[in-house]
Amino acid sequence: MPGNKAVAYKGPGKVAIVDIDYPTFELKDGPGVDPANIGRKVPHGVILKTVATNICGSDQHMVRGRTTAPVDLVLGHEITGEVVEVGSDVEFIKVGDLVSVPFNISCGRCRNCKERKTGICLNVNPAGYGSAFGYVDMGGWVGGQAEYVLAPYADWNLLKFPDKDQALEKIMDLTMLSDIFPTGFHGCVSAGVTVGSTVYIAGAGPVGLAAATSAQLLGASAVIVGDMNEKRLAQARSFGCETIDLTKGGPGEQIEQILGSPTVDCAVDAVGFEAKGHGAGAAEAPATVLNSIMDITNAGGSLGIIGLYVTGDPGAADEAAKKGSLSLSLGTGWAKSLAFTTGQCPVMKYHRGLMNAILRDKVHISDNVNGQAIPLEEAPNGYADFDSGASVKYVLNPNGYIAA
Ligand SMILES: NC(=O)c1ccc[n+]([C@@H]2O[C@H](COP(=O)([O-])OP(=O)(O)OC[C@H]3O[C@@H](n4cnc5c(N)ncnc54)[C@H](O)[C@@H]3O)[C@@H](O)[C@H]2O)c1
Ligand SMILES: [Zn+2]
Ligand SMILES: [Zn+2]
Repeated sequence: MPGNKAVAYKGPGKVAIVDIDYPTFELKDGPGVDPANIGRKVPHGVILKTVATNICGSDQHMVRGRTTAPVDLVLGHEITGEVVEVGSDVEFIKVGDLVSVPFNISCGRCRNCKERKTGICLNVNPAGYGSAFGYVDMGGWVGGQAEYVLAPYADWNLLKFPDKDQALEKIMDLTMLSDIFPTGFHGCVSAGVTVGSTVYIAGAGPVGLAAATSAQLLGASAVIVGDMNEKRLAQARSFGCETIDLTKGGPGEQIEQILGSPTVDCAVDAVGFEAKGHGAGAAEAPATVLNSIMDITNAGGSLGIIGLYVTGDPGAADEAAKKGSLSLSLGTGWAKSLAFTTGQCPVMKYHRGLMNAILRDKVHISDNVNGQAIPLEEAPNGYADFDSGASVKYVLNPNGYIAA
């Protein structure tokens, strides 16, 4: 049986490469595994040899010590792999298939899955609803920043690439299908982006840049991206977005300079609860993005809130925020009849269409988010560099599938 190297959380600011067990078709006890999930049989799963597995801002919330993630949790929810073993209950996925794995683990059998709400599956997380690989409070499914990983409910969850050679050629784009591309797209769809829309996207991290790409695909007439990080704003400009530097103040005035009006049709929050306040040197202020997008969205508009918000944040500045309670001007949202969509992106709704857009050269998502492949062993440097604000989407290459 092969060994299995993986990336684990080792306490605030630290990740390390560790040796973990090669997966079997059973969920064993380990860091972060829900007691009710220990011993759970997974005959519907497959074992994947990892082709690409990306570092995400969602991982960073845990690595910064801003969640209740336990030390030694194996990270990684953005997984593309080659099937090396299939469980006894897998009918259609075969050994040798190259597949994209939605970061949401879902059963395909519950009421929510039947309505394609795969981010809130009722059967995979004994503590509640919704699950993901390698994530705190999500049932304890082992993360995929590893050489091998178990992927449950394979026939239901996995997206098989039609042609292996073609897929390996476009792997840097296709690896974005496990999370950020569908997530950015979902942010825009739920914000109502359509032909001619004016769109504001808060955050120029990889998810914000994926949302900006998606707004362009959906036909927006203006895509304006706001951040405090000049390198990331330059990345947004590199593919035709307009940008706003939030160290100069809130977005309204700068949107007015671009559009002639301080409001937009659609807004996306691609920041989440670690949001900084607006203006030079502003401190963290977790409700900043939510309040500002309510202000700058036209009455009747919709907000796509894909940035992550938590119910427990040990590092929050005040007691309320430690429990996830933020100071929202909901009255503004009410007065303007704004619609809100929050939560995990249901990846399965979008991944096939976005795969086809990639395979037929309609979009170059990896260029837009500046995807860069690094060996698994370099994950600690990748995490540190990403945390320092580098405008890079790091893609780990644990088994050498990604050519230099
Ligand atoms: N809903 C989902 O399914 C889903 C999926 C993936 C990621 N996420 C979440 O999306 C968010 C973004 O992910 P990422 O990988 O791009 O993270 P990231 O940390 O790389 O990017 C966040 C960016 O927001 C910027 N920022 C901070 N305060 C801001 C403000 N007030 N206005 C505008 N920009 C501000 C930061 O400078 C940073 O560039 C995270 O919260 C992540 O957890 C959600
Ligand atoms: Zn992610
Ligand atoms: Zn389900």
